[in-house]
Amino acid sequence: MQILFTPGPLLTTKTVKEAALVDMGSRDPKFVQIIQNIRSTLLKLSNVEEKDYTAVLLQGSGTYAIEATFHTVLKRETDKVLVVSNGAYGERQAKILTAINKKFVKLTYDENQKCLVEDIIKAIEEDPTITHLSMVHSETTSGIINDIDFVHRLSRRVVFILDAVSSFGAYEIPVSKLNIDFLISTSNKNIQGLPGFAFVIANKSILTQCKGNAASLVLDLYDQEEYMLKTQQFRFTPPTHVLRCFECALKEFEEEGSIKGRQKRYTELQQYLSQQMQSLGFKLFVDPKDQGCIITTFLFPKDPNFNFNQFYDYLAAKNLIIYPGKMTKAETFRVGSIGALTMENMHQLIEAIKAFIAETNLQVQ
Ligand SMILES: Cc1ncc(COP(=O)(O)O)c(C=O)c1O
Repeated sequence: MQILFTPGPLLTTKTVKEAALVDMGSRDPKFVQIIQNIRSTLLKLSNVEEKDYTAVLLQGSGTYAIEATFHTVLKRETDKVLVVSNGAYGERQAKILTAINKKFVKLTYDENQKCLVEDIIKAIEEDPTITHLSMVHSETTSGIINDIDFVHRLSRRVVFILDAVSSFGAYEIPVSKLNIDFLISTSNKNIQGLPGFAFVIANKSILTQCKGNAASLVLDLYDQEEYMLKTQQFRFTPPTHVLRCFECALKEFEEEGSIKGRQKRYTELQQYLSQQMQSLGFKLFVDPKDQGCIITTFLFPKDPNFNFNQFYDYLAAKNLIIYPGKMTKAETFRVGSIGALTMENMHQLIEAIKAFIAETNLQVQ
């Protein structure tokens, strides 16, 4: 079995996978109940009231839900988004907005720098045509956690869209308190379900005004929600097995101590990894004060003979799967600390990296 140090797809437990062994009709009352349980649990984890927010479930991966949110929420004529970007996922938002022809401006930071709250506030205050703010909480490109507790300081209300794809479940995100209107995450991140659907925690008072905005049939959150409310069904074939697995994953999530418990394990894994790698001479890409517990980026070793593919293949031959870097400027690789990983798995990885260094006579620094 491969051990995934990759933050998506990530490792899931055997019991979560086993929950897929049952076929269920989408109209079966038990399945309908599973959907309702998932929706209400996601709202509880978001610290919101059911009267104010709804959890829209959408087939597909995180990017589908981000694109669906932009399609649904933005009016082409009047709305303009401020996209704040310090990595590939911020850049992806700009790419989506360009592709679907919605107006935006972008505030860009280096990939190893946190987005600066004062700049964001200034950009919004200075441009009254900005109606929406969109950013990434945990920038999985680098591992940086961006600040998200500042929207209450704005002198006017902008709609706040947050990509929490890799942070939801590992960080407390009090959605209504932070004025987040649309929070996006997926089944195969920190809840540790199988890949297959994404969810959007949506402000109902805004979502109900979004009828007809989306220039897409499938990526219309308004329609998805309206149909769900009327029929308790998905509009199109639901990923029944994946939803069963997700319900099981939510139970295991509770058993581990919910967000606090999961954050504790991920943090222990990340800190051990970071300390051990630094003691082997590897350098961190992100300042430890901005580093989250999701993924860690390491600079390539100084040795000119270092070959990432050789390193990857060596570890993969031992069933240890790491991630290449995604930086545009620096040469890096990444190691995730989320999913059903144990400390024993992290020990295995460190021992294998030590063996690689010894066998190839690698000069790390
Ligand atoms: C922060 C962030 N945003 C968006 C995505 C895209 O999600 P997906 O690959 O599920 O489409 C990812 C994927 O890892 C992510 O980490």
